[in-house]
This record gives sequence, structure tokens and C-alpha cells, in this order.
Amino acid sequence: MKLNSIGLSASKSKVVSDDLNKLLANFQRYYQNLRGIHWNIRGKRFFDLHVKFEELYTDANIKVDEIAERILTLGGVPYHTFEDYISNAKVPVGKNISKDEEAIRLIVDSLQELLIIERAILETSAEASDEGTNAMMSDFITEQEKTVWMMKAWLAEEI
Ligand SMILES: [Fe+2]
Repeated sequence: MKLNSIGLSASKSKVVSDDLNKLLANFQRYYQNLRGIHWNIRGKRFFDLHVKFEELYTDANIKVDEIAERILTLGGVPYHTFEDYISNAKVPVGKNISKDEEAIRLIVDSLQELLIIERAILETSAEASDEGTNAMMSDFITEQEKTVWMMKAWLAEEI
């Protein structure tokens, strides 16, 4: 078995980095959704939601960089064009969303898609004995599940 510089199977690392690129594309769409609702939100809850969405996109921006740098660490090349993001993203596109409930629902729907992708990556990272990616996915999943719970609490809906 051919190993890469961090001692993982080169071919299995390629599978993991390809999967991480799909996550990267979806995270970029999630990030852009958050920018959109940060800008366009209107109504009596403007001030708190405007700030909350900035907090979330700042966090998403950090995670985009972490995913891209993990791909590089595994020997891959992170997607960096809008074309690649568009052709690989499944997260719904939020356009012209200014109502608070629609904005929060967009976050829940986006995170649900990210969580599904991240859990699938846990399987390929386990197959590659890639603890670095595994730990990153575990942290993302735990945080995002908590965010979904808070968004569902805001919506006064069952999780
Ligand atoms: Fe702003």
C-alpha cells in the first residue's frame, strides 16, 4: 500500500479529500446563504438576527478554510471556483429571503444537508484510518446539531 507523507494510504486519502471537496462546495453555499440573510433580513427582530447571522457566517468562513486546508494536508486540491461549488452543492439556495422564519428555516435545511454529508465522510475517513478528518467531522457535527436544536427552539418546533 502506497503511503502519503502523513502515513495514510494515498488512494484512501484521495477518496476522503474528494468527499471533503463536496463538503467544501456545500459549505460555501451555506456561507453565502448566511451572507444573504444577514444583508436582507427585515422586521422587528432585525438587530438580533443581523448580528446572529454574522456570527454564523464568520464561523462558517473559518470552517471553509479548515476544510480546504485539510484537503491540502491529504494531498488534494480544494475547489476554489464558483463553477465547482455550483456543480457540487446540494444545500438549498436562499434567494431574496427577508422574513425571519424563512431565514431560520434556510439555516436548518442547510445544516441538515451538511450533517448528512459529514456523517458520510466519517465512513470514508474511518476506512482510511484518518483520525484528523474524523475528529474534524465529529466537532462540526456536534456544533451543528446544537445549532439545529437552537434554531428549532426559535421556531418553536419539535427537533
Ligand atoms: Fe455586515
